[in-house]
Amino acid sequence: METGLLLLVPVLLGSAFVEELDDTFMETTEPEEIWLIQFYAPWCSFCKQLDPVWHQIGSELRSLGSPVRVGKSDATVSTGLAKEFKIRNYPAILMLKNNVKFNYPGSRTKESIMDFADRVSGPPVRSLSSTHLFQHAISHRDVLVIYVGATSELKGNLTAAAEELIVHTYFFSASREILPQEVTLPSLPAVLLFKDGTYFIYDEEQDGDLKSWIKRERFPNFFLIDGYTLYAMGESGKLVLLALLEERHLCEENLRYKHLVEKVATEHKDTYSRKFYFGFMEDSSYIDGLIMGEALVPSLMVVNLSNDGYFLPPAPIETELQLLDFLDGVLDGSVEALGGNGFTQRVRRFLYETRMTLMPVFRDAPVLGCFLIGFPLAVGCVFCYLCIKNRPGSADDDEDTPLLAPSMQRKKKLTEKKSD
Ligand SMILES: *[C@@H]1O[C@H](CO)[C@@H](O)[C@H](O)[C@H]1NC(C)=O
Ligand SMILES: *[C@@H]1O[C@H](CO)[C@@H](O)[C@H](O)[C@H]1NC(C)=O
Repeated sequence: METGLLLLVPVLLGSAFVEELDDTFMETTEPEEIWLIQFYAPWCSFCKQLDPVWHQIGSELRSLGSPVRVGKSDATVSTGLAKEFKIRNYPAILMLKNNVKFNYPGSRTKESIMDFADRVSGPPVRSLSSTHLFQHAISHRDVLVIYVGATSELKGNLTAAAEELIVHTYFFSASREILPQEVTLPSLPAVLLFKDGTYFIYDEEQDGDLKSWIKRERFPNFFLIDGYTLYAMGESGKLVLLALLEERHLCEENLRYKHLVEKVATEHKDTYSRKFYFGFMEDSSYIDGLIMGEALVPSLMVVNLSNDGYFLPPAPIETELQLLDFLDGVLDGSVEALGGNGFTQRVRRFLYETRMTLMPVFRDAPVLGCFLIGFPLAVGCVFCYLCIKNRPGSADDDEDTPLLAPSMQRKKKLTEKKSD
């Protein structure tokens, strides 16, 4: 009895911070409300994993006094709402602000989702009013985009870019005085991007369109990359040199690869950073999917996320020089490109993904697995059988005759009769 009550308490507390939304939501919500919404399906196991995180997010945003309200909606029941938000997979995480929908693009951790909620709920470009705030921002973020100067056309362009890219990164505006003395600006207004302990100044002539430049440069040059981030890096158009490492098991071999990549990333930045990002991964499941097999860990590889292609070093890499040769080989085409998104690769990937989805079902419940595969197969066979059986005059035909035109079939029968 008592344990029953104790179990009920967190559920009740949790549900107070997360509102269940149905098809009436769009009519009842006010335009000034800001919502963080998860769409789920009852059968989706990732949604169940997300549930406790979602309740924590709801309770923390409430206790922080955030204007963001947290909701969730069963997309299989509230189909109208799911359609309105164009939900295609689960769990789908979105924000609604001023009638604009923002899709959440990152990993399903509490920190990352709360950061997203904070970014999207505020103004697209925030002002940094003191040196102290600048220092705080730069010590907490890998990448900062900062506008410096008075109101201008460039600021309008930056605000337009920020309205779309706020789902990925923060945008700030500041006056010249609050930036460190070392920063030299040839002219104002200017857009600066701070990362890896240095900064880049946007130059329309050299860098092209401002939004594309931010998309290309919004990742750190060298960092720990997860599957979601790697996927998102496709938009940058750059190749990624990866050290694949064993998870939480940084033995000497792992560290050697990581340091080698870091060394090349920092010491040869000027040569390679226009074409490459650099990083390390401690979970190779995304790479396993990309190469459709089990990736060698620890190892080095280059991935081309624009076409799902990848490059492996022709020989084991021991030295910095060998790594630089490998990068040059990828750029000049002398290292063979593997994978890709050609037709056969896409068919292979589809088969691979089907197998990977079905394998756990077979492992955990072989009978259910056989039923799931066997039942549609049996229905299909019966259906085909009935189709063939009901074709007029086909019952006594040879196996290959249905491929021939009716006149040919008749001729064939005649010749068969003759030969009798
Ligand atoms: C703002 O964007 C427009 C359209 O992309 C472009 O033509 C213009 O040069 C940009 N202005 C500045 C100052 O970057
Ligand atoms: C990466 O993929 C893009 C898109 O298919 C292609 O244009 C580019 O040449 C590829 N890069 C390399 C180094 O193969």
